[in-house]
Amino acid sequence: MAGNSNTSVSTPLSVIIIGCGRVAEKHLKAISKLKGLELKAVVDVNPDSAKRLLGSVKGFADTKFYNDYKQAIDEVKPSIVSVTVPSGLHFQIAKYAMEHGCNLLLEKPMTMSVSEAREIFELSKKTGLKIAMGHIYRYLPIVGLVREDIAEGKYGKVTHGTIYVRWGHDEAYYSSAAWRGTWKSDGGALMNQTIHAIDLLVWLMGSEPEEASAMIARRLRNIEAEDLGMAVLRLENGSLAQIEGTTATIPSKHTAEFSVFCEKGQLSMGLDSGKPHISVYGIKPDGKTKKLNGYYIRKQFKTGGLFSYKCALNPHLGIYKDLFESISENRNPIADAYAGFSSVDTLLGIYKSAKEGHPVKLPLSDDFNSVDMTGFFD
Ligand SMILES: NC(=O)c1ccc[n+]([C@@H]2O[C@H](COP(=O)([O-])OP(=O)(O)OC[C@H]3O[C@@H](n4cnc5c(N)ncnc54)[C@H](O)[C@@H]3O)[C@@H](O)[C@H]2O)c1
Repeated sequence: MAGNSNTSVSTPLSVIIIGCGRVAEKHLKAISKLKGLELKAVVDVNPDSAKRLLGSVKGFADTKFYNDYKQAIDEVKPSIVSVTVPSGLHFQIAKYAMEHGCNLLLEKPMTMSVSEAREIFELSKKTGLKIAMGHIYRYLPIVGLVREDIAEGKYGKVTHGTIYVRWGHDEAYYSSAAWRGTWKSDGGALMNQTIHAIDLLVWLMGSEPEEASAMIARRLRNIEAEDLGMAVLRLENGSLAQIEGTTATIPSKHTAEFSVFCEKGQLSMGLDSGKPHISVYGIKPDGKTKKLNGYYIRKQFKTGGLFSYKCALNPHLGIYKDLFESISENRNPIADAYAGFSSVDTLLGIYKSAKEGHPVKLPLSDDFNSVDMTGFFD
């Protein structure tokens, strides 16, 4: 193997970023703030994008540039490959990188089909290489602590959960790159803007999806895929999860809201135009309701210090730190390869249900690919 899957880390881990577009800037900012990582090269088919990216953060202007990802992996032999290309290219690059011994920071969605996601997940199990998914919501402060308490039964039975992701994008966003909003390379509002929120909701609720019912629509945007999707999942523990994901809302008002309801407590948290908010309530043994925000804020500060709060502004900081530690401690990252596979399976189950007009069982028994949705709105 050309790369390196160190289990004990004393020198900085080498990183290359493949794809120098919008999200890559968040990656570069995170790498620039972490001592354990060293950016060795960037890759893009467009040299201007690489130049723009490297100019966006101080100190990276002289970083080596490649236009061919295979050459970059073969020559640099990095410990970590960050995959930030259009979603339809994730599978081929992730596979090549792992076959050459590299750990991955893989942007969401893991792949565009269930069989490809399964292959990447199996490859990571077989090789022991780590995959940290770009599922930013798992890295927001307090979320992990509340999840642990739900899992330990502190709040009793989970009844249901809801999310909405109203992440408005206008025509200029969709026409900024040919892959956006296409079934082959992106999918619509659910596959791009909502998949990591679905992942968070299911993770918080602590059970696996077993059935999906969904409808999708194209209301405002001139794209191939949906700009609005609504779905209901039934989880194995009997709870229900309700999902709304859309880009057909006002672009300057991005909001994402997560709520989980339990027998003895409830959590609501979200981002409103970039501002995080949270409210957690529990029922005390005497039956009175108690607001628990202060308890979780103090607990988070004790365990993660200021760093965990910085992740609210750039969750990729938390993802890179977690990936670094998961490699050195030989453990799974918080948003691991299974999260990548499972969220693709759920999302494609949602698309399949919308296409066929009836509920579908999860995990999907046959392969389903986002391109199987081609022509849905024709
Ligand atoms: N986790 C998050 O919060 C988050 C946010 C935004 C985007 N994303 C994901 O990141 C990925 C990229 O999204 P984006 O908005 O940055 O896209 P983008 O179009 O802005 O950037 C993609 C870049 O990849 C380059 N590219 C295309 N083909 C390539 C190839 N074969 N080799 C090397 N480079 C190539 C393009 O030239 C472009 O510069 C998508 O999968 C998206 O879903 C994740």
